[in-house]
Amino acid sequence: MLIDISKAYDFTGKTFAVTGGAGALGGDVVVALAEQGANVMILDLRLGGVEAIKERLGERANQVDACEVNVLNRESLEAARDAIHRRFGTLYGLVNAAGGNSPRATVNPTMSFFDIPDEGMRFVLDLNILGTVMPCQVLAKEFTETGEGVILNYSSMNAYRPLTNIAAYSAAKAAITNFTAWLAVYLAQNYSGKIRVNAIAPGFFLGEQNRFLMVDKDTGNWTPRGQKVIDHTPMGRLGNPEDLLGCVLWLLSPASEFVTGITVPVDGGFSAYAGV
Ligand SMILES: NC(=O)c1ccc[n+]([C@@H]2O[C@H](COP(=O)([O-])OP(=O)(O)OC[C@H]3O[C@@H](n4cnc5c(N)ncnc54)[C@H](O)[C@@H]3O)[C@@H](O)[C@H]2O)c1
Repeated sequence: MLIDISKAYDFTGKTFAVTGGAGALGGDVVVALAEQGANVMILDLRLGGVEAIKERLGERANQVDACEVNVLNRESLEAARDAIHRRFGTLYGLVNAAGGNSPRATVNPTMSFFDIPDEGMRFVLDLNILGTVMPCQVLAKEFTETGEGVILNYSSMNAYRPLTNIAAYSAAKAAITNFTAWLAVYLAQNYSGKIRVNAIAPGFFLGEQNRFLMVDKDTGNWTPRGQKVIDHTPMGRLGNPEDLLGCVLWLLSPASEFVTGITVPVDGGFSAYAGV
């Protein structure tokens, strides 16, 4: 029998954890999942954005709760796992949206690659790659007991071809794409084909972490780098966070039940364009 696509996107009764769920892209995923019926636990170092997320949900706000979590701290992840069980029960899905770059690991006119401090490199490598691996170890182990579950990781355009200036971020996101494929194979071969692991590679979305690179703060115009991004995006615009949601829900839903180990670019055609 053909799958009923309209029901595939009904997440009623399913519980998801979203790391970085109080941030820009993660926050939209929390709202989208709750609107489709899911229970969602936000796991974030900073919970300042949680109230605004709940306000957006109105009556559905009681489907969302939050835990202060550091994705690089195993005890904190274990405490979050117990809190999810107490509040919502069995976990079905894990979205690893915590991540990002740092000016401390970004080449600039006063800091060449040779001067980037170890601490800056380590911060960005750890946050993105270990900050994805550790939640999978602590939270997704449960999927091996229930025999089902979905994981969604956040890669980037940098995973395909690194952008200038951001060596650590580029390497870390390439590692996330690689790890996504590795874990997908490991879980399917050793546990269940109903445990799936995929990633999205967002194109360019204006956020607090990249605004200083894309927009001139004095004039509000694109920086030369921002203009280059627009010129290399066939659709001629930056993405809106909502542009990601169709792909996110598809990868988390049974509509993609034979899909695992892939990274999907959602980028207005950036990765397809050779520039000529
Ligand atoms: N915004 C973009 O254009 C873009 C493009 C490609 C990929 N991404 C990736 O998408 C993901 C989400 O990005 P965003 O734009 O929403 O960023 P954001 O900074 O708005 O959100 C990231 C969230 O992660 C949280 N966080 C940071 N360190 C943490 C830690 N140690 N433990 C727990 N939580 C922590 C932050 O508090 C924040 O709420 C990131 O992995 C980012 O690298 C973003």
